[in-house]
Amino acid sequence: MKISNGEFTELGTQLVLPFFEGSDKPPNNSLSGLSRSQRGLVRDALASGSFDGKKGKRMTLWTPGCNIILVGMGAKKSLGHKRSRNTGARLIASMSKKKGLDVTVRFTSGWSSKRMIDFAEGMMLRDYEFLSHQEIPEDHIGDHWRVEFQASSRHRESLSEGLSITHSVVGGVHLARDLGNEPANVLYPMEYARRAVEWSKGKANVEVEIYDWDKLQELGMGGLINVGKGSERKPCMVLFTLNPDSDEGIQRPCIVGKGITFDTGGISIKPTGGMWDMKYDMCGAATVFGLMAALQSTSYERRVNGIACLAENMPGSGAYRPGDVFKTYSGKTIEVFSTDAEGRNVLSDGLWKAGEMDPEYIVDLATLTGAVVTALGNQISGMWANEEGIAERLKAASMRSGEPVWRMPLNAQFRKYMTDSAFADIRNGSIGGRAGSSNTAASFLEFFVPHRGFDEEAEKIPWVHLDIAGTAWGPGSKARSEGANPLFQYGTSGVHVRTLHRLITEE
Ligand code: BES
Ligand code: MN
Ligand code: ZN
Repeated sequence: MKISNGEFTELGTQLVLPFFEGSDKPPNNSLSGLSRSQRGLVRDALASGSFDGKKGKRMTLWTPGCNIILVGMGAKKSLGHKRSRNTGARLIASMSKKKGLDVTVRFTSGWSSKRMIDFAEGMMLRDYEFLSHQEIPEDHIGDHWRVEFQASSRHRESLSEGLSITHSVVGGVHLARDLGNEPANVLYPMEYARRAVEWSKGKANVEVEIYDWDKLQELGMGGLINVGKGSERKPCMVLFTLNPDSDEGIQRPCIVGKGITFDTGGISIKPTGGMWDMKYDMCGAATVFGLMAALQSTSYERRVNGIACLAENMPGSGAYRPGDVFKTYSGKTIEVFSTDAEGRNVLSDGLWKAGEMDPEYIVDLATLTGAVVTALGNQISGMWANEEGIAERLKAASMRSGEPVWRMPLNAQFRKYMTDSAFADIRNGSIGGRAGSSNTAASFLEFFVPHRGFDEEAEKIPWVHLDIAGTAWGPGSKARSEGANPLFQYGTSGVHVRTLHRLITEE
């Protein structure tokens, strides 16, 4: 989507008029540029009560030269970011490019700049499709929408600034979606790495480093090595640094992502029915990449680190097996209970590596457990944290972004369920079995969160774990059918790129 903003002068071939409930006359400016008969149609629609501005209501008035769409926003007083964003998303989903690519959106009386930007964000987020590997139907219009958002002059600065930031951040969300939607035969660990290097080229303020198979051996990153060794497509770690020369000696965030490009379960193989969507098992790493791109393209000037832990979890004669014991980058050993609990294994190396950056805090994202989907469904991510301050901040950013999280427990019982292996320092499966298995997975990760300066006497680095197994892709993702979340249609959501961008940039 190409975007611009202006006052109430230009008029595209489609005009969107988002109106609040309870006005029987079109607000000032909303009809400028329309002919007398076009204006009459809008006035009649309102005066007759045929269009009442109630939320969810929409009326299209086709006229020669301009397709006019009246959009009901509901009560002015109660318009929050969520309704505004979702209405924008549903609107663009319902619009046809055949009626013209030049769209004018007019925000007249009652609109704040913030709500305008939320509405525009919804439109931008939903304007996404992934058609890289299929024949495009002849009547499909691939050209981009060109949308001008119009408001009175007093909003000009905040609107143009907000729109441009939002446009860049949504670019990061769409990048994350692209990576997630790519099939596993196309996007394997070193292909992710190649794309990261490609992205960094020509950008003076980004650094991308790859730890390939040989480097992983040299460093002893046993988590990545063991999960990835059963596949011909070898594992790797990708380290992003934005603005490496900024904030010298100042602690900054580090974001870590699970990047299993395909999760068969390995030797503890998954049932066939539960496997097709495991190409999405790298959505944590996709969010890390999307976030770095979002920060970079919004010209964020401070240092941020990102770490993607990439592997393909395959069975085979070279694969790791249940009962194996191996040493991770931290020096701590893991007893393999299930090769299907692979995400936590690769993250053990990522979290330990994050500690070397002496970060202000660590956030990890992972499609970690099926149990979190049972617990929280498809619209809420599970959140675990070892520190209140960062938990509160992340929660606030996620709520404002419309990507909710729900705090889940870490406690001594869950820790014990993981750490009382007879053969190693920790086991990747819980002695409690399915009882609280998202929580036990989180305590496993907590075990690998370093103490500040790797000094056992010091506090652990503040850390938040987000289990995005339910939120990274939609339940309607098998088909192009409408899901519960209007911000995307099918496939991946790009969840938490916006939350983390907000957390990091709006302090
Ligand atoms: N990638 C899966 C988790 C998952 C399942 C994500 C369904 C999205 C939808 C993860 O690697 C996994 O297999 N977890 C196991 C852990 C168990 C073996 C301890 C699970 O959740 O069953
Ligand atoms: Mn698994
Ligand atoms: Zn997995």
